[in-house]
Amino acid sequence: MTWDAYYRGDGVTRADTVLPKPPPWRTFPSRSAAEVFRPPDGLIEAVNAALALRRPLLITGGPGTGKSTVIEQVAAELALGPVLRWHVTSRSNLADALYRYDALGRIHAHRLQQEMERAGGEAGVDDIAAFLHLGPLGTALLPSPRPRALLIDEIDKADLDLPGDLLDVMERGEFRISELLREGQDVADVRMWDTAARHRVEQGHVQCSEFPFIVMTSNGEQELPAPFLRRCVRYTMPKPTAVLIREVVRGHLQLEVSDGGPTAELVDDFVRRVAAGESVAVDQLLGTLHLLNGPARSEGAERERLIALLMKDLSGA
Ligand SMILES: Nc1ncnc2c1ncn2[C@@H]1O[C@H](COP(=O)(O)OP(=O)(O)O)[C@@H](O)[C@H]1O
Ligand SMILES: [Mg+2]
Repeated sequence: MTWDAYYRGDGVTRADTVLPKPPPWRTFPSRSAAEVFRPPDGLIEAVNAALALRRPLLITGGPGTGKSTVIEQVAAELALGPVLRWHVTSRSNLADALYRYDALGRIHAHRLQQEMERAGGEAGVDDIAAFLHLGPLGTALLPSPRPRALLIDEIDKADLDLPGDLLDVMERGEFRISELLREGQDVADVRMWDTAARHRVEQGHVQCSEFPFIVMTSNGEQELPAPFLRRCVRYTMPKPTAVLIREVVRGHLQLEVSDGGPTAELVDDFVRRVAAGESVAVDQLLGTLHLLNGPARSEGAERERLIALLMKDLSGA
């Protein structure tokens, strides 16, 4: 193995060490995965049904099965613009996904302004819009000629109330910014989630013109309520087949998996393990193949050790 060129564990500084080139999916800024994603059987139908029905698509499946990547390809193919991403945690709530109002920041700015005026400065305008920031869902619901793409990632990590709260907004495709209504500000240019651009909101009311294309992903950690499921198109990532994995490897690594070679053995072993219910992800296999065909080309016991290191079951520590 050629690891000697990097970390050796001898504490000697070698400042001229050149690290191996990163795998294509670990270069930054990262490239879109749209071109290399290979949809498993049935996914294309599910995506098109969700698009046609203007319903969210709920994708369940194990880790690393490509759930979070699907939307990149859909958005790229249909020119839906950059994907809006909302990564759900137990602290996520609907209000933050729609918009945030920085009340403290506004009070602070108001005090500063008063001090400046006392010192003879110009009178300022108190524009509440400067302290409003749309969230990913709020931005997705802005009127636009084409639907925006919104990823609600790992919805099963959410607090129990979130799916019900979401349902309401997704049914109506609208929301109100109560701070604007309360203060009677008829027009406000509010910042969007993913860019510095602003969008004009009138009467504190946002109503979508095209329902966004929403993909929600779930590892199945929590059951979602039936009324919520009823309004989604649901798709479960199937266990990968040897044919699909060969295509994925070709797409990501430009590597042909010939029958019977050592790479084929790794691929087939991966497919066998997943079919048997083990939790191993495609990215683990891709990483292993990248190293074994590049910086860590090795044989025998060394090769086996590396495979054992990288292909560990995810359910263990
Ligand atoms: N069918 C597939 N085609 C191409 N790449 C895939 C596929 N499935 C998984 N991957 C790759 O595996 C990695 C993990 O995918 P990700 O979408 O993060 O999985 P998940 O969200 O299901 O945990 C990504 O780098 C993705 O490109
Ligand atoms: Mg994911």
